[in-house]
Amino acid sequence: MIIIKNQTQIKGIRKSSQLAAQVLKYLATFVKPGISTQALNDIAHKYIIEHNAIPAPLNYNGFPKSICTSINNVVCHGIPSEKKILKEGDIINLDVTTILDGYYGDTSKTYPVGKISEIAKRLIAVTEKSLELSIKSLKPGKTLNECVGQVIEPLVKSENFSIVRELGGHGVGVNFHEDPFVYHFDTKKNNVDLKPGMIFTIEPMINASTDPRVTIDGQDGWTIRTFDGSLSAQFEHTILITPTGSEILTI
Ligand code: MF3
Ligand code: CO
Ligand code: CO
Repeated sequence: MIIIKNQTQIKGIRKSSQLAAQVLKYLATFVKPGISTQALNDIAHKYIIEHNAIPAPLNYNGFPKSICTSINNVVCHGIPSEKKILKEGDIINLDVTTILDGYYGDTSKTYPVGKISEIAKRLIAVTEKSLELSIKSLKPGKTLNECVGQVIEPLVKSENFSIVRELGGHGVGVNFHEDPFVYHFDTKKNNVDLKPGMIFTIEPMINASTDPRVTIDGQDGWTIRTFDGSLSAQFEHTILITPTGSEILTI
C-alpha cells in the first residue's frame, strides 16, 4: 500500500530529510585518504544524535552501524569498520538515513578520495546525472516507470555501464522502507501512477561494466558487491510528488 502523505507528515519528512542532507554535506568534508569508515560512522552518529535525531540504519534488521559506507566494488550496505581506511583513488558512497520526530529522510552520494581514474569520474558523473534527469521528469499523471526506468536505462546503456537489478528505491517517510519498490530499469513492474503526496527515494546503483550482477557477503550478510569486481556508484534523494512536478526533500 502506497501512503499519500498529509501536510503534517510532509513537514516532518522534509525536516528529517534536510537534516540527512546536512549530515551528508558535513561528513563529506572528512573524506580524505587515511580516514577509516568507522571514524566517518562515528562523526555522523554524533552529529545526528546532537540534532535530536536517530540514525535509522543502527540495529535495522540487525545492521550494526549508523551509516552505510560502500567503497569501490561495494554497491551498497557496506559496514563501517576500523580496518577499512580510505586511500587515494577510491570512490566511496556514504548513505545517511535519519529519524527525526518519527519521520525518515534518506540520501546518499558517491565521493572521490583524492585523485581518481577517468572511468571512476565518468561513473560518478553518469550516476548522478541519471538521478537528476529522472527527478526532472517526475510529474503527476505519469508512471514511475516512465520517469525512472525509462529515463535511467538509455543513459546508462549508452555509457556501457549497467543498472543493478536486485535493489531499488522505495517509499519512505513514515517507515524506512515503504511501498512502492522503485526499479531503476525499464520494467512493467513499475506501473505506478504518480500522485501528489507520494514520497519515495530514487537511488540508482550503477556498475562500471556491462554486468549488472551483484553478490551478497556470506560472512556479514549485508555487503553487496559487483559480481565482476567492477566499480559501482550510487546517488539517492528523498522526493515528494507535488501537484506540478516534484520537490527534492534531501537538500
Ligand atoms: N539507506 C539504505 C537505502 O537507501 C538502506 C540501508 S539499510 C541498512 O535504502 F540496514 F543497511 F542500513
Ligand atoms: Co533508500
Ligand atoms: Co539510503
